[in-house]
Amino acid sequence: MKRAGGLKAGQRPTWALGTGILVVILGATLLLQPWSRVEAQAPVALTPPMGWNSWNHFAEKIDDATVRKQADAMVSSGMRDAGYVYVNIDDTWEAGRNATGEIQTNSKFPDMKALADYVHSKGLKLGIYSSPGPKTCAGYEGSYGHEEQDAATYARWGIDYLKYDLCSFDEIMKKAGSPEAAHNLMLDAYTKMHNAIVKTGRPMVFSLCQYGADHVWEWGASVGGNLWRTTDDISDRYGSMSLIGFQQAGLAKFAGPGHWNDPDMLEVGNGKMKPDEYRTHMALWALLAAPLLAGNDLTTMSPETIAILTNREVVAIDQDKLGKQGDRVWAEGSQEIWVRELEGGAKAVGIFNRFDWPQNIQVDFEKIGLKRTGVKMRDVWEGRDIGRSGGKYVARVPGHGVVLLRVARWCC
Ligand code: GLA
Repeated sequence: MKRAGGLKAGQRPTWALGTGILVVILGATLLLQPWSRVEAQAPVALTPPMGWNSWNHFAEKIDDATVRKQADAMVSSGMRDAGYVYVNIDDTWEAGRNATGEIQTNSKFPDMKALADYVHSKGLKLGIYSSPGPKTCAGYEGSYGHEEQDAATYARWGIDYLKYDLCSFDEIMKKAGSPEAAHNLMLDAYTKMHNAIVKTGRPMVFSLCQYGADHVWEWGASVGGNLWRTTDDISDRYGSMSLIGFQQAGLAKFAGPGHWNDPDMLEVGNGKMKPDEYRTHMALWALLAAPLLAGNDLTTMSPETIAILTNREVVAIDQDKLGKQGDRVWAEGSQEIWVRELEGGAKAVGIFNRFDWPQNIQVDFEKIGLKRTGVKMRDVWEGRDIGRSGGKYVARVPGHGVVLLRVARWCC
């Protein structure tokens, strides 16, 4: 969809006394990162957020009844029990404002509070969308000049998550006078909404969306972001998904509990990729400690789609408590190996084949930081232990596919 404001794709901060002091310092550090420009709120997103978002599948064809059905399906399909919690309404719910400036919902969403109550009654949480600009990317009402009022409205409705999409704020930045001034305006806009959320007293995940411009990973946490989009919009094609996913190399150091890189929502189950390509999508996102926001119609999922989205071992890699994002450790031509450190000393190893026909790919465990003399391996997608290795393993990887291993030392 064309972004309002002319923003184009890709355009887009004594011992008892001693112990007491230590506890206070640790607590303050957890709640408020030292480099932060923002006020603190109760910690959220200590692992990457999981849930569903309306945009990838429904775009503007989203309404109250559809969201309720998605919430129902999230429960009946087993997704909630696998860890998916947020039901996020993206753009196009907004109407104008009333006489006192309060944001109104359009006819597709007659009662947002009732919808939030319904979603909460299922053990799920509700997310919403807005922009720091006057208009959203689809041309609906944004939050510009109404940040505190909107945050208060969201809190009153019972909203738990806000995706805040730059969109027409770009026009305001263009008038700033210099790139530095424009950059600072953007940081101030995100900080303003974060502080408005904190003021409500209701914990909400704060999701920054400005398509990965201006090295957002360097300042996203400082403006209160719990996640920030690192790329332009994904589409349901191997080319788009793999370009975005494999481009994430080098960003690992910016992610951690409470603040994550976001390579965009999932396309699993939308129908334009092969099952091996969707397994690549899911495995890569798990290695990247990426938010897992399903972007398909949860009411019409095939057993295979449910199996990909709810694979407990893949989800466990994504949600690993250490919170360390993985990175590429080796690449040659169309072959890549990505590794993520897990709690307890194990590693998740993704062996990716970017060609569209099968290839044998060799992993040398010593080269990826595991001793030559003994690792035990488990094939995560196959759900089976594949024994021990003295140092090397050759995987047969399907075209555009992945072999995802969980590897741990077993001796010496
Ligand atoms: C932008 C975002 C998308 C979606 C649309 C809605 O393109 O990047 O994820 O939110 O806006 O208009």
